Amino acid sequence: MRVLGIETSCDETGIAIYDSYAGLIANQVHTQSEVHEAYGGVVPELAARHHLQQTLPLIQAALQESKLTVKDINAVAYTAGPGLVSALLIGACIGRSLAFSLNIPSIAINHMEGHLLSPMLEKNPPDFPFIALLVSGGHTQLISVTAMGCYELLGESLDDAAGEAFDKIAKLLGLGYPGGRELSKISQHGVPGRFIFPRPMTNRPGLDFSFSGLKTFAAQTIYNNANTQQVRADIACAFEDAVIDTLLIKCRRALDRSGFKRLVVAGGVSANCLLRNKLADMMTGRNGEVFYARPEFCTDNGAMIAYAGAIRLKGITHDSLDIKVYPRWPLS
Ligand code: KG4
Ligand code: ZN
Repeated sequence: MRVLGIETSCDETGIAIYDSYAGLIANQVHTQSEVHEAYGGVVPELAARHHLQQTLPLIQAALQESKLTVKDINAVAYTAGPGLVSALLIGACIGRSLAFSLNIPSIAINHMEGHLLSPMLEKNPPDFPFIALLVSGGHTQLISVTAMGCYELLGESLDDAAGEAFDKIAKLLGLGYPGGRELSKISQHGVPGRFIFPRPMTNRPGLDFSFSGLKTFAAQTIYNNANTQQVRADIACAFEDAVIDTLLIKCRRALDRSGFKRLVVAGGVSANCLLRNKLADMMTGRNGEVFYARPEFCTDNGAMIAYAGAIRLKGITHDSLDIKVYPRWPLS
């Protein structure tokens, strides 16, 4: 079975083809960060317009990459939520229409399930059960995963997502959008310990997160101190350290509570090198294992949607003709 995956939930148009025998055979991504950079965040109307322009050419490019024609596709998977409604509608309309015209099944995929399953595309995929840390621009969640589709939310951010906090502080430091990667880059030149930032909600039990207080603390520090390149790097270093330490403490708690030995980390922030290294050290110390996707599959992409579609499509044939998207769609 060959599944075409379509991702248009935010500001990346991702198209991929996953073959149940050969694995991933095409992967095309068009990022719109340049479009939104001037505004310091994603403008939904512009995002939708660019998805509309990019989706069909990228489908053609994916078919060319895999040396297939559209008739060789057996099913279409598209992101139906969570995300920006106008952006989701582009992928959903194109995906469903294409499937209808080809008389093949189509399936609505939850974007966060796509992220959660993205490490399955790698050579050493995780077995169940595991704890998943989903850290993206819109979500910070800890999830207990006992089988495909069996997800229990253990904790989540009560306000800003980790990626969102990275982006906002990066903006205050004068870096581009999205700023997570840029902030992480300059933080390597920072002096550790020059500033110490709080680790929110770690001194009380529970698995929820809150990053808005840390964000205000960092913003205040920037306002009072950031007058040289070095100080900006020192602040970036303190901020990155605080976010990553907080994520680490909560992962440890979730693993202790569940007794699971495997940790999966996915979503845009899972591309962060410091996070990857610190979690790898922690899991080695616990005789456990941590699993990530390769960096280009940490941020939004069509490969994870095509893969989730290949798993979920088993048993599905044809459904009704209506087109629905779910801007808020809990994973559980
Ligand atoms: O998963 P994703 O591509 O989109 C959403 O579903 O939200 O995640 C994007 C987020 C952005 O906030 C971006 O700044 C962050 O992931 N990000 C990073 C890094 N690379 C991307 N944050 C920290 N360090 C990175 N290396
Ligand atoms: Zn995402």
